[in-house]
Amino acid sequence: MDQTLVSMDNITKDFPGVRALDGCRFELRKGEVHALVGENGAGKSTLMKVLTGVYRKDAGRIVYDGNEVDIPDTRTAQKLGISIIHQELNLAKDLTAAQNIFLGREPRRGLMLDERKLNEQAARLFERLGIELDPRVKIAELTVANQQMVEIAKALSFDAKVLIMDEPTAALSEAEIGSLFRIIGQLKAEGVGIVYISHRMDELKKITDRITVMRDGAYIDTVATAETPIERIIAMMVGRELYHASGPAQTGKNGEIVLEVRHLNRGKQLKDVGFTLRKGEIVGFAGLVGAGRTEVARAIFGADPIDSGDIYVHGRKVRIRNPYDAVREGIGYLSEDRKQFGCLVDMDVKTNIALPSMRSFVGGLGWMNDRRIGDVSAQIVERLCVKTPGTGQLVKFLSGGNQQKVIIGKWLVRDCDIFIFDEPTRGIDVGAKGEIYELLDELAAQGKAILMISSELPEVLRLSHRIIVMCEGAITGELRREEATQENIMQYATRRIG
Ligand SMILES: Nc1ncnc2c1ncn2[C@@H]1O[C@H](COP(=O)(O)OP(=O)(O)OP(=O)(O)O)[C@@H](O)[C@H]1O
Ligand SMILES: [Mg+2]
Repeated sequence: MDQTLVSMDNITKDFPGVRALDGCRFELRKGEVHALVGENGAGKSTLMKVLTGVYRKDAGRIVYDGNEVDIPDTRTAQKLGISIIHQELNLAKDLTAAQNIFLGREPRRGLMLDERKLNEQAARLFERLGIELDPRVKIAELTVANQQMVEIAKALSFDAKVLIMDEPTAALSEAEIGSLFRIIGQLKAEGVGIVYISHRMDELKKITDRITVMRDGAYIDTVATAETPIERIIAMMVGRELYHASGPAQTGKNGEIVLEVRHLNRGKQLKDVGFTLRKGEIVGFAGLVGAGRTEVARAIFGADPIDSGDIYVHGRKVRIRNPYDAVREGIGYLSEDRKQFGCLVDMDVKTNIALPSMRSFVGGLGWMNDRRIGDVSAQIVERLCVKTPGTGQLVKFLSGGNQQKVIIGKWLVRDCDIFIFDEPTRGIDVGAKGEIYELLDELAAQGKAILMISSELPEVLRLSHRIIVMCEGAITGELRREEATQENIMQYATRRIG
């Protein structure tokens, strides 16, 4: 019996100035988990958007369940049973979970919306997935992980035979990834073909059967996961051997205290949080999602009000009421919520990079120094290997990982003393990750103070001079780099106080 569900052949897709796909190939079987990997901008999302009717291919052939098909729009894909969970979650924040799942397909009684039936149907989907979620809760009130579960439920509600997940674990904690993997295993057993896009190489070995590697819009190879070492996959992705820098230089231990936070409280989210950050030091914040790490960052940056607590910058007590105050105190914040605070996707790369530091680009007579903006942003694009036809490209046309690099770039241009990086390498490919690690090392060596939040423990261990662990809004442990291991971090991360 032929197990092939989808086969894409010779797919080409051009955008103005960019060939995103160049004669690309891909094949998916029933009941397999098939990873699609490649560097940022390799064309992974575009290939899957072609399969789901978001983009029309310029050339090539798609065979689905034995027949050649034309997929001109997303409805056609849904009818065929091809569902996708996009890299950027696409839910309507003000609607409930159930309303989102059945948007445009709500059960009705006469002219009236049958709210009860809607919620029942959603509840049944959640039950099938083994997730505990109230279908009547508004999306805005859900964690990213639960929003993702709603996306999966929505994808399944179309009776999906093919389910595509574009970087599903980028925003999830270890425990949440565990339940996602359980659901993937279940769908696989039901015969669903799953396409799994991820930059987290450790995951591939755990759940995928085969791996297809793409580079620069082209097909490189498809291999069986069990027979292929990860190093080989990475070499195929980047087209060269990767150089892995070792740990950070031992700097900053005795540097002056640049930031001090005392007795920070905010509802149940922050409980008496206090710590110091020294010049030249990278302090990693570890913990499970929801532990309160992002809340600490947002409180320091003035993005959320606090109930009580004091913040000192260079030994001086400061009042930070909003992000403007924070920026004035020399604090830069790379938020984990890229959509809200990240970048202006309808503007071009150079404007985004220059934005937080506009004042430094104003010339003597008060006008903008466009040439310098161009030069500086071109440097950033080169330094961070942003894949773009030029600094005039609109950010919305960049791949997910490359948008991320632009956001990092804009804070680098702004001269801050204190950097807060919340999940700095989320969505960034293995090669570029190394570049970003080196960049953080370099910032520390220059005497910057860095607070870094990451859910990837190897990353915390690689970068931090000191590690602070949080659980349920409180700091539960602090470890020096020499004594930290994944195990003792996890112990503190699950240790409740009070
Ligand atoms: N709508 C668009 N207009 C112009 N260029 C685009 C558009 N969509 C994608 N591209 C370009 O096509 C190339 C492939 O992008 P794609 O989003 O498929 O990459 P990706 O492999 O998913 O990367 P990432 O890992 O960063 O998500 C990139 O160079 C990107 O800038
Ligand atoms: Mg992508």
